Amino acid sequence: MDPDRLKGKNILITGAARGMGAANAESFAAQGANVCLGDLDGAEAEKTAARINAAGNGRAVAVQMDVTRRADNAAAVAATVEAFGSINVALFNAGLNKPRFFMDIDEDNWDMIMNVNTKAMWLGMQEAARQMIAQGPMADHPYKIINVGSIASRKPLIDVTVYCTSKYGCLALTHCGAVSLSEHNITVNGYAPGVVVTPLWEQLDKDLVDIGFKQREGQAYDDIVREALQIKRVSYPEDITGTASFLASHDSDYMTGQMIHIDGGWCIQ
Ligand SMILES: NC(=O)c1ccc[n+]([C@@H]2O[C@H](COP(=O)([O-])OP(=O)(O)OC[C@H]3O[C@@H](n4cnc5c(N)ncnc54)[C@H](O)[C@@H]3O)[C@@H](O)[C@H]2O)c1
Repeated sequence: MDPDRLKGKNILITGAARGMGAANAESFAAQGANVCLGDLDGAEAEKTAARINAAGNGRAVAVQMDVTRRADNAAAVAATVEAFGSINVALFNAGLNKPRFFMDIDEDNWDMIMNVNTKAMWLGMQEAARQMIAQGPMADHPYKIINVGSIASRKPLIDVTVYCTSKYGCLALTHCGAVSLSEHNITVNGYAPGVVVTPLWEQLDKDLVDIGFKQREGQAYDDIVREALQIKRVSYPEDITGTASFLASHDSDYMTGQMIHIDGGWCIQ
């Protein structure tokens, strides 16, 4: 790992207390970036930031935030600027899932998932872009917004209609953000995982048994690996960090509006 690859990058990451957000924060900082970790769980975000600071290289700060609130998104951007002087990259990673069959979806399920996964992404993109525009264009490189989609950004799945709707929305925000923000020298890209072993998936695995879609815990992993994946294993946060780092780095400067799938080949079937 090149300890200077992301030197000079000041990066806000939402949902960074644990899971893929935390793994990306650690990976970015190990490559020289300064990272601001926003999360609903402020105490856990503080712990992750402390681990990063103990490891050395890039610095970390934590901020408690609810991504569904505009004021919290503005405050997280401000905290990044206050800690590091500016913001160059924003990674909108916070997300959740709660499976329901189509006819069982109610307004609470719809609002919870759409608010966190989609509305909050739009709010965060706006607040980050507002600050980037105010800072003025960087001399050589674009500012970067990175959105976390999913296999559910492109595949209809019968157990998670609202999650699919929310993540198709992330793809739309990536495309619309790219065409809307290019005049300000801001690129918008994203990545789309398949099955990543994190607290989100561990809960989803239980919930799929609760709604009767699977008979036992762990079955969803086995079925997806057998039926859907070309690479015959589930993934882990460290399978994701390389692509996220690429999108945060100068290596992706000429890309915008792209959603890269890191899903073991699920999306091609
Ligand atoms: N795990 C997977 O298999 C998988 C697959 C595809 C996409 N994704 C997406 O990747 C992203 C990260 O998922 P993960 O698996 O690491 O999840 P995770 O549950 O491990 O971590 C998500 C983090 O987001 C935070 N969060 C949730 N709601 C929030 C809110 N309102 N405000 C601020 N923070 C909030 C949580 O506290 C948590 O720290 C999500 O967008 C998810 O939809 C995950």
